[in-house]
Amino acid sequence: MIRRNRILRTSPAIRAMVAETILTPADFIAPLFITEGAHVKEEIASMPGYYRYSLDNTVQEARELWSMGIRSVLLFIKCADELKDNEGTEAVNPDGLMQRAIKAIKDAVPEMVVMTDVALDPYSSYGHDGIVKGQEIVNDATVEVLARMSLNHAKAGADFVAPSDMMDGRILAIRNLLEAHNFDKVGIMAYSAKYASCFYGPFRDALDSAPGFGDKKTYQMDYANAREAIKETLMDVEEGADIVMVKPALAYLDIMRQIKDRVTVPVSAYHVSGEYAMVKAAARMGWLNEEKAILEILTSIKRAGADLIATYFAKDAVKLLG
Ligand code: PBG
Repeated sequence: MIRRNRILRTSPAIRAMVAETILTPADFIAPLFITEGAHVKEEIASMPGYYRYSLDNTVQEARELWSMGIRSVLLFIKCADELKDNEGTEAVNPDGLMQRAIKAIKDAVPEMVVMTDVALDPYSSYGHDGIVKGQEIVNDATVEVLARMSLNHAKAGADFVAPSDMMDGRILAIRNLLEAHNFDKVGIMAYSAKYASCFYGPFRDALDSAPGFGDKKTYQMDYANAREAIKETLMDVEEGADIVMVKPALAYLDIMRQIKDRVTVPVSAYHVSGEYAMVKAAARMGWLNEEKAILEILTSIKRAGADLIATYFAKDAVKLLG
């Protein structure tokens, strides 16, 4: 034998020397669910160990994340039912919960990279990502609202807006409106390859944002397709996206790899709520070692090409990395 592959696996020291993929705290984007009120910390039933926080606790959480080395947060708000309508009016309220959250976090932790979800679903009386006409989710009228929503987040101090709606042409519209108002330092993290996935279920519980009728298959992508993901992503880059995203993560690592090989912008993965819930559930049953699963999954996502990973395990991962 002249080739003994096991030599490089002999000891932890040797394995550490030759490890190709190393997770660091700055890889992670921590999603935050924000709700009205004071001193609120509500566990999300289908996401054990993950919480909705009121603003005061959100700020505390952001401080803690920063002290752990996590450099970015992705904000989602739970909108009160009485503020929901078809046009997402509350989404562009300058004093809305999202806008107050951006300001509060930037005041408390100025260096934290604050990213905001841009889509109508939490604000929509129909629970859809766009404006509904009849049975249809209309594209162009929605894009207009998304651009105004993005500008509004930029005014409140967001560093990146993250459109998660999958309407056509929204990246260009957002970029143009930001430019027109001189927000030339605000980035766009585009959910470029976002699939219509059952793995968003727990998230929709967290924000009470499940679609009231139908599904999201006329705008989110069909999981049977890969080429479409490349088309969507290349278009988003052309339209001005600074970071592109693949979502969900674990069942889409082939997509991640193909996109990584084709673009020169950073690629982000969203390890989504259902993926989190699966690990939690199996661990609770005693069927899976949670700590090992977290590190294996997040390392695999990075190995597949992710430069950044939005994950509900961000804090756990940093603690495990030691
Ligand atoms: C809103 C949005 C969703 C997620 C992120 N932004 C839900 C959806 O598209 O239905 C899912 C995140 C997760 O499941 O963790 N457009």
